[in-house]
Amino acid sequence: MKGLYKKKSQLIEELAALRQRVKELEESARKHQQAEEALEESKEKYRQIYDEAPIGFHELNSEGNIVQVNRAELEILGYTAEEMLSQPVWKFVVEEELTRKILMAKIAGDVSFHETFERTYRRKDGTTLPVLVKDRVIRDKGGQIIGIRSTFEDITERRKSEEALSKSEEQLRQWQKVEAIGKLAGGVAHDFNNLLMTIKGYSEILLGKFDPGDPRHEEVEEILMAAERATSLTRQLLAFGRRQVLHPQVLDLNGIVTNMNKMLRRLIGEDIQLLTALDQELWSVKVDPGQIEQVIMNLAVNARDAMPRGGKLTIETKNVVLDENYARQYVSVKPGPYVMMAVSDNGCGMDKETQSHLFEPFFTTKEKGKGTGLGLSTVYGIVKQSGGNIWVYSEPGRGTSFKIYLPKAAESAKEKYRPIEPTRISARQGAETILLVEDEKAVRTMIRKTLQSNGYTVLEAHHGQEALHICDQYSGPIHLLVTDVVMPRMSGKELAEKATPKHPEMKVLYMSGYPDNSIVQHGVLEPGTEFLQKPFTFKALEGKVREILDKPS
Ligand SMILES: Nc1ncnc2c1ncn2[C@@H]1O[C@H](COP(=O)(O)OP(=O)(O)OP(=O)(O)O)[C@@H](O)[C@H]1O
Ligand SMILES: [Mg+2]
Repeated sequence: MKGLYKKKSQLIEELAALRQRVKELEESARKHQQAEEALEESKEKYRQIYDEAPIGFHELNSEGNIVQVNRAELEILGYTAEEMLSQPVWKFVVEEELTRKILMAKIAGDVSFHETFERTYRRKDGTTLPVLVKDRVIRDKGGQIIGIRSTFEDITERRKSEEALSKSEEQLRQWQKVEAIGKLAGGVAHDFNNLLMTIKGYSEILLGKFDPGDPRHEEVEEILMAAERATSLTRQLLAFGRRQVLHPQVLDLNGIVTNMNKMLRRLIGEDIQLLTALDQELWSVKVDPGQIEQVIMNLAVNARDAMPRGGKLTIETKNVVLDENYARQYVSVKPGPYVMMAVSDNGCGMDKETQSHLFEPFFTTKEKGKGTGLGLSTVYGIVKQSGGNIWVYSEPGRGTSFKIYLPKAAESAKEKYRPIEPTRISARQGAETILLVEDEKAVRTMIRKTLQSNGYTVLEAHHGQEALHICDQYSGPIHLLVTDVVMPRMSGKELAEKATPKHPEMKVLYMSGYPDNSIVQHGVLEPGTEFLQKPFTFKALEGKVREILDKPS
């Protein structure tokens, strides 16, 4: 009985142990279940991330066939999963053969290639897109390569902004090039002017020595004509180099366009229609009217040449405000209010190559003798010197549009624009005394001879110091100081300031190949300053001298 009892209690114990064991097993099963659930959950999360990531993923097996591809990539390329799965990935790449070779080499264990590549993928609709792909090999536990896992990023936007950046860099380079040529051209033109003065001056003297019937008379005339042509070339170069004296006025651009209408029609001929679209509320600008006329003329002539079989020439004016955003995109543009003038044609247009050289002096596509290639360089110089900007839009076969932006003037135009009267030419004999200061001997001698032959008494100095010395010594009146602007040691302006107290009756005429900054601030002469741009003809000199002396002081 005792033994039986023991057996019973043993059984109870064992039962309790069993119960405990069952409990433990249940617990462990529950944990297992939880772990499974967690695993499922994380798999689901992974799938979501894989599918919803903003970049593409795909996985290749050891043959380069796609075994997995995420939704982003399918959406970017426009395929369904069925269409991509088990296909070799290079079937979707424009550089098919190269891609195949690289991927197969990677799978074979070649480590000499980069991880990332730019490739062009083909979409289902036939369009292409640039893609940045990063390929990493996948290995099994034994280290064997079993495939490739890739990320796939659409870089269309990045490409676009890179292109925009390189475009503005290109613009900057072109702008710097044109600026540099401008400086060079301006400098050369200045030296040229002194030479031309001498050539023209002595030719005029020679001309006076031969009778009109003499064959030598005609020959000298040829020299003069050639010098005249050279003068007009240097003038254009000076304009390009922004070394011109401007006479800006506050005016309404529409007035200029309207005034030129008749002349432009004659210029472009009957086959070309001239249309104007002028903003009636146009703001005023402060520009030199003669120069702006030159700009319109040059653009109109180019447009005419671009439409040999006729077409339309349109001149448009409009108020525009260029904002910060716009200014950031273009070199050298300040934000603010501008008056825009567009001169457009529907002619032959031009390719990118021509456009990139457009404003360079002597760039022309016209046959020899037809164009000098200075038209647009002149336009460029004038617009820049007036504080403006110029852009060109052109398409081969469609036409061209030049847009000029001139800053809005602070004041508004008071009166209607009137063309400036050309300098009156009178060659009345003189009897006054003139102090002539010029450092170039050939030029000085010539001017002296001209003035003397007109009856003037000429005192001659080759620099400022000498001129001041003459002022001290000369007891009679000196009616006029004719001085070069740019001279070594003392500028013309400085000389005039020091000399006029000694001879208060003395008037001043400046002459120069280009205006010095001391008298021309921002390209504008101080009001009342008399100025003669070299090279000038004798007639112009005589006329100007007489005009100044006859002016009541
Ligand atoms: N409206 C336009 N349409 C097509 N091409 C143009 C136009 N304007 C200018 N071009 C091109 O730009 C070049 C340079 O023009 P630019 O006015 O500077 O010189 P040009 O007309 O050749 O000679 P120039 O004006 O000195 O007589 C032209 O030769 C032409 O190829
Ligand atoms: Mg031209």
